[in-house]
Amino acid sequence: MIKDLVLAKEWLPAAYSHDLTDQPLQVTILEERVVLFRTTNAIKAFKDLCIHRGAALSLGKVVDDCIVCPYHGWKYDDAGACVKIPQQPPGRAIPSKAKAQVYDCVEKYGIIWVKMNSEAGDTPLPLYDEHLNSGFKTVCASPHTLQAAAPRVVENFLDVSHLAFVHEGSLGHSDYAEIPDYKVHWKDNRYVSDEIAVYADADGTGNFTTIYYTFEILRPTVARLKKVNHETGEIFSMLFAVLPEEERKSTVFALVSRNYSFDAPDQYFRDFQQLIIEQDTSIVESQKPEELPLDLQAELHLNPDRLSIAYRRWLGDLGVTFGSDIGSRLKKAAQ
Ligand code: FES
Ligand code: CO
Repeated sequence: MIKDLVLAKEWLPAAYSHDLTDQPLQVTILEERVVLFRTTNAIKAFKDLCIHRGAALSLGKVVDDCIVCPYHGWKYDDAGACVKIPQQPPGRAIPSKAKAQVYDCVEKYGIIWVKMNSEAGDTPLPLYDEHLNSGFKTVCASPHTLQAAAPRVVENFLDVSHLAFVHEGSLGHSDYAEIPDYKVHWKDNRYVSDEIAVYADADGTGNFTTIYYTFEILRPTVARLKKVNHETGEIFSMLFAVLPEEERKSTVFALVSRNYSFDAPDQYFRDFQQLIIEQDTSIVESQKPEELPLDLQAELHLNPDRLSIAYRRWLGDLGVTFGSDIGSRLKKAAQ
């Protein structure tokens, strides 16, 4: 059973396209094992389970646009129908129940997105213009796994107050910890903050100045950030998409874009993002309770926490249970 009916309707980031070769790849989404594989024209996502004896299809191989189970060689076509059972004599019908479970799957921004509930209708994919804009250069940061609930990981990305401490010297400056008041607005199905002036180093090059941060909460586990230096016109943006693997295990896929320094090596920007997320990891993994409290009375909020408040409220309105304390309350009540 899929663990969260709300997140099951979302396009969740499963892998970078460039990490899927001609071999099937296993990923975990909402505690389900999922196999990704390439056919001639598409990328497919199936439940990673053969209906015959439960072997992982991801251990098999792709032949003629079909995935072949490693255990007894049953072959499933790209729509999930079993088209060959090698043990049967020719002409014998294949049982109609011999099917793989197929999930919706699309590729966008170099990320493979999977939706676990195919009947969910038209859930929007998060919008990230920079990837399509030739005025920007975009790199994929390495996937990064944290032993933490996805909502905690997303909220940390939205937390502007920690830059001066967790990222002292790399992003923020502890002499400039004050955050001006800002508001968060609901606009076109997402939350958008005002521009927040922060004395910061946008990209770790050592140039501290006033940078204007705008955050957007696009989907329950996807957010974005734009940092603008209004003096130079330099913009540094990021799409931050979190895969909820297990209740307390998440993987971050981050696209990092810039409209300047096209000559600088992409690896610099990848390494910078890696440094930042490693600084965040021990903090986020230390947070208690592990699930994000959606009851707004549960923790103490200040003005700079308005993004967190909006995020918690949205998850509560949507009824996201996976990685939030609504889920842990429901579980406790059921015990
Ligand atoms: Fe897959 Fe038998 S378990 S073919
Ligand atoms: Co951080």
